[in-house]
Amino acid sequence: MFSWAKSALSAVAGTEEPIYGPEAIQPVGKNAGDPSFTELTKEDLKWQALNYTNVETQTFYVNADSGHTGIFQVIYNNIFGARTTVQFNTKIFYPNNEKPFLWSSDPLSNHGFDEGHFSFHADGVSIQLNEDGSAYTVKAAVNNSSLVNVTFTRTAPGFQAGKTGTSNYGTNPKEPWGSMHHHFWPRCKAEGSVITREGEIKIDGQGMFSHALQGMKPHHAAARWNFVNFQSPSYSAILMEFKTPPSYGSTTVCVSGIATDGKLLIAGINGGAKHTETKQDTDNDWPEPTSASYHWEGKTDDGKEVTAELAGSLGTKYDRVDVMAEVPGFIKTIVASAAGTKPYIYQFASKLTIKVKAGDEIKEEEGVLFTEATFIS
Ligand SMILES: *[C@@H]1O[C@H](CO)[C@@H](O)[C@H](O)[C@H]1NC(C)=O
Ligand SMILES: *[C@@H]1O[C@H](CO)[C@@H](O)[C@H](O)[C@H]1NC(C)=O
Ligand SMILES: *[C@@H]1O[C@H](CO)[C@@H](O)[C@H](O)[C@H]1NC(C)=O
Ligand SMILES: *[C@@H]1O[C@H](CO)[C@@H](O)[C@H](O)[C@H]1NC(C)=O
Repeated sequence: MFSWAKSALSAVAGTEEPIYGPEAIQPVGKNAGDPSFTELTKEDLKWQALNYTNVETQTFYVNADSGHTGIFQVIYNNIFGARTTVQFNTKIFYPNNEKPFLWSSDPLSNHGFDEGHFSFHADGVSIQLNEDGSAYTVKAAVNNSSLVNVTFTRTAPGFQAGKTGTSNYGTNPKEPWGSMHHHFWPRCKAEGSVITREGEIKIDGQGMFSHALQGMKPHHAAARWNFVNFQSPSYSAILMEFKTPPSYGSTTVCVSGIATDGKLLIAGINGGAKHTETKQDTDNDWPEPTSASYHWEGKTDDGKEVTAELAGSLGTKYDRVDVMAEVPGFIKTIVASAAGTKPYIYQFASKLTIKVKAGDEIKEEEGVLFTEATFIS
């Protein structure tokens, strides 16, 4: 989810921010009168394509029936309003991580949008939203290592937390100097395939879609992130949590939701992630999680209390992304020395059982968890 950081960090000369305090962030869903979430309409799915420094991403996650876990992503990065770079990434983990994952990351040229800004295209890539706003088709032929043709069809409503899905940064809420927006389709059916140099991988299975807009330098916006995409036959449980740097009071912001077929069970800003067991990563001193627990809570439309827990070993680490290794050396030095920034992303995909309590009813179900733990500063 956070590979935007790779391109975004290359746009920064990382000065440290002063301590503004927790008042300088207005977390999503905490404005007076905010609903816990808002269901998305087609209008909400538009690309913003802002003309000042920002990173906008569309990311498609899949847990395929074949056991593959995949990510397809477009990163649209505007640098100082002067230059826009666009990148398409494909990452596919093989079942049980039995062999090295497939990774292609290719810069795109001649990018553009349809008139309504619902669909994206570039040479060799298109991400098309259908007429009724219920399905995206992702096609990519920019890299012969991964020819992508996958359709994600929403099987439950999409949502954003609160009214707007946006957290704002700044001492004057009327004139924020930064922002972070996310919206999701927590539950999708994925259909299609990726053709690699070794053959075709069937991508049919369960999908999830996330659209993020970050109008802020990533290491100023967040010091830590947790991201969860859990898919089981009856449930799709997602959670995104970040903690700001001390400049914004080390404030924790959470967006979470659980969908079932055809509906959102709960969604909003409750819940959270905990690393219950960790080990020191000797390369960077980060406490790499080995076990974790994730928590959801909320109320259904008809007022029923819902809580859900997902906990256990994260299993084999699928990847550790050294974000700075992918940006030029001189920027790395500036960012690291000025801001104590050393971003690493730990990725896991494991089988776990979710326990969902809705009113008096408790249901347990095994599914596949894809999770990222990101440490920035
Ligand atoms: C950016 O977009 C806004 C709104 O569309 C416009 O008013 C402004 O002139 C644009 N700025 C630049 C530098 O293109
Ligand atoms: C395609 O992806 C591979 C990694 O899978 C990378 O080495 C290569 O540079 C990419 N681009 C092209 C045009 O093959
Ligand atoms: C991909 O393969 C096709 C057909 O073999 C070839 O024409 C094309 O040049 C290749 N593209 C890249 C980017 O390597
Ligand atoms: C993509 O998949 C669809 C549905 O399976 C198929 O009809 C279409 O021909 C495929 N397109 C390409 C370019 O492979």
